[in-house]
Amino acid sequence: MADEFKGLARLPGFVVPRRYDLRLKPDLSTCKFDGFVEIDVEILQETRNIVLNAADLSVSNDGNSLWLKKSENGAASVVLRPSSVNLFEENDILALGFDDVLPLGKATLGIGFQGVLNDQMKGFYRSTFVLNGEKRNMAVTQFEPADARRCFPCWDEPAIKATFKLTVEAPLDMIALSNMPVLDERIDGPTKIFCFEETPIMSTYLVAIVVGVFEYIEDITSDGTKVRVYCQVGKTDQGKFALSVAVKTLGLYNEYFSIPYALPKLDMIAIPDFAAGAMENYGLVTYRENALLYDERHSAAANKQRVAIVVAHELAHQWFGNLVTMEWWTHLWLNEGFATWVSYLATDVLFPEWNIWTQFLDQSTEGLRLDALAESHPIEVEIHHAREIDEIFDAISYKKGASLIRMLQSYLGAETFQRSLAAYIKKYACMNAKTDDLWAVLSEGSGQPVNELMDSWTKQKGYPVIHVKVGENTLEFEQTQFLSSGSVGGGQWIVPITLSCGSYDNRMSFLFDKQHKVVSSSELLRLTSGNPNVFGKCVSEHEKRSSWLKVNIEQTGFYRVKYDDELSSRLRIAIEAKCLTATDRFGILDDSYALCRASKQSLSSLLILMDAYRDELDYTVLSCLINISQKIAKIASDAVPESYGNLKHFLINLLRFSAEKLGWEPRPGDSHSDSMLRGELLTALALFGDDAIQTEAIRRFNAFVEDRSTPLLPPDTRKAAYVAIMQNVCTSKRSGYESLLQIYRESDLSQEKGRVLSSLACCPDPDIVLEALNFLLSPEVRSQDVVYGLAGINKGGRDVAWQWMKEKWDHISATWGSGFLITRFVSAVASQFSSHDKALEVEEFFASRTKPSIARTVKQSIERIRVDAQWVKSVQEEQLLDALISELANKRS
Ligand code: BES
Ligand code: ZN
Repeated sequence: MADEFKGLARLPGFVVPRRYDLRLKPDLSTCKFDGFVEIDVEILQETRNIVLNAADLSVSNDGNSLWLKKSENGAASVVLRPSSVNLFEENDILALGFDDVLPLGKATLGIGFQGVLNDQMKGFYRSTFVLNGEKRNMAVTQFEPADARRCFPCWDEPAIKATFKLTVEAPLDMIALSNMPVLDERIDGPTKIFCFEETPIMSTYLVAIVVGVFEYIEDITSDGTKVRVYCQVGKTDQGKFALSVAVKTLGLYNEYFSIPYALPKLDMIAIPDFAAGAMENYGLVTYRENALLYDERHSAAANKQRVAIVVAHELAHQWFGNLVTMEWWTHLWLNEGFATWVSYLATDVLFPEWNIWTQFLDQSTEGLRLDALAESHPIEVEIHHAREIDEIFDAISYKKGASLIRMLQSYLGAETFQRSLAAYIKKYACMNAKTDDLWAVLSEGSGQPVNELMDSWTKQKGYPVIHVKVGENTLEFEQTQFLSSGSVGGGQWIVPITLSCGSYDNRMSFLFDKQHKVVSSSELLRLTSGNPNVFGKCVSEHEKRSSWLKVNIEQTGFYRVKYDDELSSRLRIAIEAKCLTATDRFGILDDSYALCRASKQSLSSLLILMDAYRDELDYTVLSCLINISQKIAKIASDAVPESYGNLKHFLINLLRFSAEKLGWEPRPGDSHSDSMLRGELLTALALFGDDAIQTEAIRRFNAFVEDRSTPLLPPDTRKAAYVAIMQNVCTSKRSGYESLLQIYRESDLSQEKGRVLSSLACCPDPDIVLEALNFLLSPEVRSQDVVYGLAGINKGGRDVAWQWMKEKWDHISATWGSGFLITRFVSAVASQFSSHDKALEVEEFFASRTKPSIARTVKQSIERIRVDAQWVKSVQEEQLLDALISELANKRS
């Protein structure tokens, strides 16, 4: 009868909730829960049906636990019972049918239900902890994107906002936390009943409850918001850093958004089993332990930075997401792209010495990389089913999203941008907004046609590569869509072009909205104060230094640039002469790499460019150089194995300068990024098999095995030592592997465990790799942590990892299949291949195993393998590459 609701993508709007009064009673020993919800609804259109969401819940259909109360004009209330109750699993719909048409106006819907505290890290789930040697359960919620419906029947869509009054029953020795402060707490037999204050109007995906044993530390913001960090007993010291970041960031955002934080308190809590990194629940932000806790003695600088960024990101959502919420998941990027961008803004204010905006380029480049695939998607993506939402929490929504915001901010100017944003937050507070709504407010605030400019970036996938050519008296620009496959897509964009010439004082900018543009000599000469060399074809080495031309200054634009040979060589010389900023050095290198991978540029020219970075000291630029080096090494070992030795030699030499400068131990006056860089450089060199590094690593590791507080192996360099150890482990010499397992078992710091897991698979012996992969599936590793182990798979272990994944797929799919972590198995294993045969094999394997939650990742992974296979082929066809590699290798040895 109610079959009309079976295939529904979004809920009908004829009955809407205004207020939920929800009571939950989790039983932590049986892992079940009972609940009762009374929902004040408004019937807006005459109907016989009430249609809402519920999943994995049993709804009892007896008179006491399923009813609709209607009070008519103050008279005694009428109680109605539904004559049909249908649960449609397909789209998580609960449809209640009544015999008579329901009268318009207010009513209260009462539903009793039961559910299971699941092990899937979503909905209302079970996490575990150890207290006084005893393993115990706790209950936690994770509702984003669409799992509130697994905890209580509700209208589970971001635009259907309501208020929530929660009551939670917890065991006597535990506490319960929720979005709001406790209003009243009383003991009732073996349980304690926590009644929370009613929330302001908000979306269901932001409701949160935690029941467990925790300790906390507390601080207060200058305007009186109580901020707490909750964590496992005995770990409060590790919460101090996040607490101080949170207090400062709240103050900052109060000012930036010009509207104070809306709730009376903000709790942040570390959860031992957590699928994402953190979740911005209104007033009760939940975190993975490693994204919240920082241990002075055992956490690395990179861990500290991660905590700051994650806290700043989640707090940004308290405004952008929680106060103003996306209208539908199509606009998820507004939430995530924006929070990502703002987290850098806040971190830059709190830690100016971190150069976080230079590091932001890591975000852009990951966005650019994913968006260069034919299997990418537009930022604004249509969502037809709840199961499709998980997969758009990806580099497009986060990283391309954040990069576009940065591009727009830099185009409109920081001040105009902030003023308009504050106006947007004010206008849509407690409501929902679409992408166009933000553009409209920004247009109004800036007087610029933001809508028109941004539509080309958010409604179509991909981005352009700008070809720049210098002629006799002109500079020519052309835009085409950039694709990693090397084919040319049909997209076109309105591109904010910026350029400098010879000096950063000479700047020019224009909106490039055609396919071609010619800038005349007079325009450019004006800009360069008459510097005549820009147009000359034969410029001397000396003159080249001052006649460079860099497009996309500071890399604020989301596009790639391809220069002609003459301009490229001038840029290379300018890099060597140290004329360019770190962001621009990054951009030139990264664009060149992307073009090379797309077979638009030779590997030789990329290697010659890389050679210009031999004195590089900037963290972000070097980190990019390391990533590129590893990628090239992998491709070259497939493409030109006879030159692989020489190539490794060249790459090791390239990194050695800075590695030697930094050494293994902190030096007085080291910067934050020196500490991060040290670890990354040593890890890369260990992976390349640098003998000196390996010997030193083993010495320091042995000291650490003897004494966990030795100064010889501080946290920043531990990963490098672990990787070096695994490079030397084999079946007949496995003590290093055993020691690492012991470190893993002993530590109760999540970051230390992650470091060990991420190095276990970095072993040349396939039997050990297999053992390490099986360890990941053992009960000793929390299912949330498997991702760290997968990240360690490299080329040496790719075949055994692929075999292993195929054999274990049923188990993997059963354990991780209902969340987004399963996509990591696919991408980690597939990313190591670079042949058409393997692409086919992967395609065939997943043909019968695909499902909505991995479909996009599978397609993207296969496309990546094909791109790399093509790259291998073009490298093989390259003339004189061997000679060049050998020349570069011998240059400085
Ligand atoms: N809203 C997300 C959490 C989330 C992710 C929920 C995926 C559901 C599915 C949260 O704000 C977030 O973005 N967390 C990031 C950390 C952030 C610093 C990029 C995460 O979990 O990695
Ligand atoms: Zn987020």
